[in-house]
Amino acid sequence: MNIPVLTIDGPSGAGKGTVSRLIAKKLGWHYLDSGSIYRSLAIATLQQAVDLEKEAEIVKIARDMALEFECGDTLIVKLDGKDITDQLGLETTGSAASIIAALPEVRRTLLQKQRDFKQYPGLVADGRDMGTVVFTDARYKVFLTASAAERADRRYKQLKQKGIDANLMQITQEIEQRDFRDMSRASAPLIMASDALYIDSSEMTIETVIEAVLNLIHQDFLLP
Ligand code: C5P
Repeated sequence: MNIPVLTIDGPSGAGKGTVSRLIAKKLGWHYLDSGSIYRSLAIATLQQAVDLEKEAEIVKIARDMALEFECGDTLIVKLDGKDITDQLGLETTGSAASIIAALPEVRRTLLQKQRDFKQYPGLVADGRDMGTVVFTDARYKVFLTASAAERADRRYKQLKQKGIDANLMQITQEIEQRDFRDMSRASAPLIMASDALYIDSSEMTIETVIEAVLNLIHQDFLLP
């Protein structure tokens, strides 16, 4: 049986996480937050005080690490039995993740861990290279983006809401740096798959984005 996969790729802060989680819930499909795999590996690497450029050592950590995902209202991630959820969202974790994510052997090692999420009745996969590398034969592909200013603003409000002190200019710079690193790397750079639906969410609400993505799936079911 052909298990349907919906890939949602795009830069950080475009709303992929929220949109993917809600769509997976609506459809009753599994959800893969591939960024959290890179983030978990970054946490493991930092914990072991391994240099973020040391590819062979990081590959070994990637092979040995045991990750558990508990997908409820929020995602809980355990690394070797320990809950690391609190550290996942930190900007230091995101930046470290984006550095190790540029290492080709690291990406190759994480491929199967991601493909294992493809299970009946379907999968929503969120990341940078879901439609271009990991699930090239996915039935539905979306590229979700928003302007850097809008993404920085959303992140700023999120942090403020959590009572975390934040600086809009610094967040904008961090987002631009991460975009540049993700788009310019040689291995699986962030690019849109040629068969993906392009959505710019700068001026859209979450609900409208979800409607546009669900339309893509519903239209397909209506086809003869
Ligand atoms: O999506 P998120 O911000 O959690 O991802 C953290 C970092 O992990 C990204 O900046 C990117 O460098 C890397 N990543 C990746 N490929 C993916 C998902 C994330 O390279 N599929």
